[in-house]
Amino acid sequence: MLTVALPKGRIAEQTLEIFAEIFGGEFKFEGRELILDMGEFRFLNVRNQDVPTYVEHGAADIGVVGLDVITEKELDIIQLLDMQLGKCKVAIGIKNEDELDWSRPNIKIATKMVNITKDYFAQKAVGVEVIKLYGSIELAPLVGLADAIVDIVETGSTMRENGLKVAEEIMDSSAYLIANKNSYYAKKDEILSLYEKIKAVVERDN
Ligand code: PRP
Repeated sequence: MLTVALPKGRIAEQTLEIFAEIFGGEFKFEGRELILDMGEFRFLNVRNQDVPTYVEHGAADIGVVGLDVITEKELDIIQLLDMQLGKCKVAIGIKNEDELDWSRPNIKIATKMVNITKDYFAQKAVGVEVIKLYGSIELAPLVGLADAIVDIVETGSTMRENGLKVAEEIMDSSAYLIANKNSYYAKKDEILSLYEKIKAVVERDN
């Protein structure tokens, strides 16, 4: 039996479609149910940011989560496979009329991704003040809370519709299959067998 933590929404749906294709049957969370038991698998429907927590603590053996979240949380888990789902970038956004000038003092950056932001600017030896937000990051420069943002860009429409542009790209991200370290050794055959099956579907589709 493997417990699989999935991030609510499209990535969970797409991952369950892959399971349905491999094992047959309907893999779908009903209504507001948070647990789905299907044969040898138990799926947990959790918030994106919480997937690594379930996996790191062993409440889930494996999970699917964005590389941005894995990087931000600096987790002690095993990265098994890039599932090529939910492709996006972590980027710096500024107002359309602004230009980047890192030599300015007291630059303020609003973001959900505090660690990625701090690491990026530390590497560039640029001193910035990082302001932690939990969502609607694009609002911050529009109302003077920050000079720039570090955020996820997928289609680009949120930035575009709010008069922002990408100034620099920090990293590419996509959803990864991850495993708890103890589970990986205790349930190696089960996890590797599943990994091989998912990998075959991912490679066929990409
Ligand atoms: C994410 C991200 C951007 C948006 C990017 O927000 O923080 O705001 O999606 O997608 P796009 O480039 O396709 O427009 P999310 O929808 O998760 O909501 P949030 O603002 O609550 O974080």
